[in-house]
Order: sequence, then C-alpha cells, then structure tokens
Amino acid sequence: MNTTLITGIGSLVTNDPGQGAGPLGLVTDAAVVVDGGTVAWVGRAADAPAADERVDAGGRALLPGFVDSHAHLVFAGDRTAEFNARMSGQSYTAGGIRTTVAATRAASDAELDANLARFVREAVRQGTTTIECKSGYGLTVEDEARSLRIAAEHTPETTYLGAHVVAPEYAEDPAGYVDLVTGEMLDACAPHARWVDVFCEKGAFDGDQARAILTAGIERGLTPRVHANQLTYGPGVRLAVELGAASADHCTHLTDEDVAALAGSATVATLLPGAEFSTRAEYPSGRRLLDAGAVVALSTDCNPGSSFTSSMAFCIAVAVREMGMTPDEALWAATAGGARALRRTDVGTVTVGARADLLLLDAPSHVHLAYRPGVPLTAAVWRAGVREV
Ligand code: NIG
Ligand code: FE
Repeated sequence: MNTTLITGIGSLVTNDPGQGAGPLGLVTDAAVVVDGGTVAWVGRAADAPAADERVDAGGRALLPGFVDSHAHLVFAGDRTAEFNARMSGQSYTAGGIRTTVAATRAASDAELDANLARFVREAVRQGTTTIECKSGYGLTVEDEARSLRIAAEHTPETTYLGAHVVAPEYAEDPAGYVDLVTGEMLDACAPHARWVDVFCEKGAFDGDQARAILTAGIERGLTPRVHANQLTYGPGVRLAVELGAASADHCTHLTDEDVAALAGSATVATLLPGAEFSTRAEYPSGRRLLDAGAVVALSTDCNPGSSFTSSMAFCIAVAVREMGMTPDEALWAATAGGARALRRTDVGTVTVGARADLLLLDAPSHVHLAYRPGVPLTAAVWRAGVREV
C-alpha cells in the first residue's frame, strides 16, 4: 500500500456539487487521500483516515489539475517576428501557419520530440495535468504521421489536423489536398490519433471541405473537434454540432443561431483567449454562451503563431477580466470543462476514483488565479498520484 494524505487544505475544489458548496463543490478545511494513481478519499480534514505519508497544505487551495484540451505542440521554430509585426499593426491570417510548417518539416524526430517534451513539462509546472496535442505543421503524409507518433508518446489525446491549411504544394489544387487528407494521409495518421480536427475558416477550409474531412475521420473511428468561427463568422460551429463533435474551438464570431446550436447540444464551446490576446482581436463572450446554457471550456491553444502560452492560469485571468466569466466559472471551464471537451470522466474533478491529478496553489483560494494575474502560484502538482512539482 502506498497512500498519501494531503491535509490542511484551506479550500478544496472538487467540481462535484454533491461533495461541497456550489457548482465547484467547494470543501473548506479539507483533506484528500491518494492511493497509487487515484483519489481514494475526499472530505473534512477532521474525518480523514490515516495514510502512509502526510502532506500539510498549510491552509492553501487544492484544485483538480488543469485540463488543456487544445494545443499544437509538435513544431519547430518560432514566429517572434510575426508577433512583433502584429503588435505594430499587422493583422493575423491563417497563412502564417506555413512558416512553422517549413521549420517543422526541416526538423528531426528527436528535435520535435524534445520541443514537445519541453512544452509538456512547462505546462505541468503550471498545473496542467492533461493536455491535448494536434498535428498540423507537417502537411505531408510522412510529416503528419510522425507528428502524431511523437505526440502519442506524450499524451493519449492526439488530434489529426492534416487540415490545418492547404499544404503549399497544393496551393493551386485545394481539392487534391482534401483528397490526400481524407485518403492516404488519414490512413497513415488514424492509428496514432484519437480525434480529427479541421480549421474551418477563410484562408483554410470551407464548410463543404470541412464536412468531407471530418466525415472521413469519423468513418475511420476518430471523433471530431473543430476549429470554428475564429477569424470570421462561418459554418464551423453548426457543422461541429451537426456532426456531434466533442468541441467547437475558438467560437469568437458567433451568431445567435450558433449560440443556440451549441446550447442545445453536447458539443462543448472551447474558448481560447490566448489567441485573441496574441492576435489583438476581440474576445469571445463566455457570458453569452453560459447564459444560453452552453458548456464552456477554456484552453491555451498553445502554438507558435496565434497563442504562444501554455498558461491555463493566464487564460483564466483573461476569461474573468475580459469575457464576462466569474472566477468560479473560469476555473470550472479550465478543469471539468476541458475534461468534457475531451470526453474524459477520469480527470477534471477531485472525487473518489478519479485520477489523482492535483494542483496545490500558493494561495488560499482558486480566485487568486484571476486576482493575482501573472504571478506563479504553483506550489505542488501531482499527476496520476506522482508528485511532479
Ligand atoms: O488555433 N487556428 C488555427 N490554428 C492555430 C493557429 C496556428 C498558427 O498560426 O500557427 C490556432 O489559433
Ligand atoms: Fe488551435
């Protein structure tokens, strides 16, 4: 037996309303017992059972580890110059993706693996215990397949995004590229992927192309998620809902019909405030989606072009300050919401039987994530019961 008692928790977020106060299921003066990789007991510290080891949280807050359900981490190079130009007035377009495609193709497997490992580590240090990772900077059969092979070494949440933009070789033949993405490239990638995604956007793929790509992925056993309505209004969100996608991501430009479609569906609206921050764009309204009854997740979109942050705390702070979300709603979206977007029931909560993914904050409450923006608040992180920080 190897059990750890974490006690002296001033404020515990369980995300189980049956366990404590409000939607976050908050428990004060709490304790948690971890047995191997899972949570074995949750309750008031005064009632806690004995365990092999004891950690005193010293009155600080314990939360479920962040679930970052949208990231692009298999790439090489960076796009500092493009960011700099944007902050001097240039606007963001989907075309910048090709800069990273060139650098990624030129990189060795070992370089891509080392980059990815570095970003995963960076995320863990900030409290992220589940992270999704997309391909999409290879855009050849070989480069997409190796991107996913490498990603799968680091996370089970791998997403085939051969349809990020039309590969440069197919600039004059987008239909030919869609054939490749739905044919030979899908065959090579499907064994390494859980999800299929498409960037449904002006300058990337239109609604008909996106439908063909997602449908082909579904036929190969992949579950869809969609980059939808980021830069312009468009068909992405409604297509995501129609195809039963786990998530529609970005949701920056939404009509009332888009909002109603999300609210009436099981498709999660995943908001990525790092992208609006780094492209100097208008933020989506979390408030509007929540008031309509949609399930909202928050995620980093970590990528070298539009959102080069791995900080879920940053996303929470922006969502609270700029997107009309309360600190409780933002925390839920960054944990349980992300789990919903990945259709995971084992992460995103601190409940008996859940994976022991825990974030101890150097603060008395989760509200400090928004109240103290930019301040490193990670005191400790456990992933599947293993102390990582
Ligand atoms: O989610 N929207 C498409 N893909 C990324 C951007 C990728 C890039 O610019 O390199 C995103 O924002
Ligand atoms: Fe993205």
